[in-house]
Amino acid sequence: MLVFSMDTICYNRANSTLLPWYCGKQMYASIYRRYYQQKGRLYPVVLVPPTSLTVLTPATSANLGPGYDSLGLALQLYNRFDVEIGGLDPAIPQIEVQGELGADLSTGPDNLFFRAFCLLFERRQLPVPAVKIRMTIAIPPGCGLGSSATAVVGGLMAANELLGMQNPSLAYSKEELLAPAVEAESGNHPDNVAPALLGGLVATTVIDGKIEAIKTRFPEALKAVIFTPSFPMDTVAGRKLLPAEYSKADVTFNTGRVALLLTALQTGRYEVIGEAMRDRLHQPYRQALFPTMPAIIEAAITAGAYGASLSGGGSSLIALASTNFHPILQSMQETARSLGIDGHGMILAADQQGARVIAPHKRSRKRGSYRGAPGTLV
Ligand code: HSE
Repeated sequence: MLVFSMDTICYNRANSTLLPWYCGKQMYASIYRRYYQQKGRLYPVVLVPPTSLTVLTPATSANLGPGYDSLGLALQLYNRFDVEIGGLDPAIPQIEVQGELGADLSTGPDNLFFRAFCLLFERRQLPVPAVKIRMTIAIPPGCGLGSSATAVVGGLMAANELLGMQNPSLAYSKEELLAPAVEAESGNHPDNVAPALLGGLVATTVIDGKIEAIKTRFPEALKAVIFTPSFPMDTVAGRKLLPAEYSKADVTFNTGRVALLLTALQTGRYEVIGEAMRDRLHQPYRQALFPTMPAIIEAAITAGAYGASLSGGGSSLIALASTNFHPILQSMQETARSLGIDGHGMILAADQQGARVIAPHKRSRKRGSYRGAPGTLV
């Protein structure tokens, strides 16, 4: 009987292959990798605790007035997701939520971040590792700032980074993550997930089932003044208020304004933004859920904003300006308060980068048996 020590043999329990340790770790690794390539299999690396990473995902403002379901802007306000390999059961993540704003978020397997995380492993037909997740929530959920999109994009980015650690060929590009992001986003609208992923101002649509998204830098001169009322607005409920059909006049009203808005931003003709952010496709109907919205928008423009609109499906309002940020915010808040609406405000620059992984820390098992313990990626 032949006896091999672990220094001379690598035993892969998954397919019972025995590989001799010829000489030196590097040569061993290249032989092992070549062996897997020849077999048409992916070269596996085991990631073990304390493998960890952090994903930052920006808030987004969809629609920007007339760009219903097709325009979105990333903003410098972030939800943070810390993911650590480890835990007892891959099916039951250990989720901790930090920040009062996240108090109502699920910490079970139905957590949106975790569902998106699992989705990418399923696409690669690889087992989901057991993970511990800490979510630090700075974006108010249900307020039209793309909070759920941060969870979807964050989960995909985290999974993608771990897949890439396991084997670089397993990782997707950001553009390739768009389709699973839209799939995981409730309602399947691309206008929040696309800028959350790519950053900047993104024009997006679906063509024959394929997501097209073109990112452009948002002018540095402009900032978003955001007023978020103390009440959330349900995007789905808001969409139910929209008519099934529109008049030609309303459609051309919007197409002209989308064209004007994009061109004004590109050429610096900011004085037309006020007209360009007007909308006839969704905002007038959603007003039933937020009747004081026009007065607060008007207050922003009177105080010096170029234009303003509902952010996404609400309840936040977004005003674009290049000066007078604080007076604009104050005017929105005072007008809201005078109409019985409490809320808080933020002045935010555009995020040009989109979701990012910071501080990845990889530790892999260099040799020895693949034990298949929970928390390992094989
Ligand atoms: N465009 C969506 C809506 C919101 O207005 O309902 C973001 O997906």
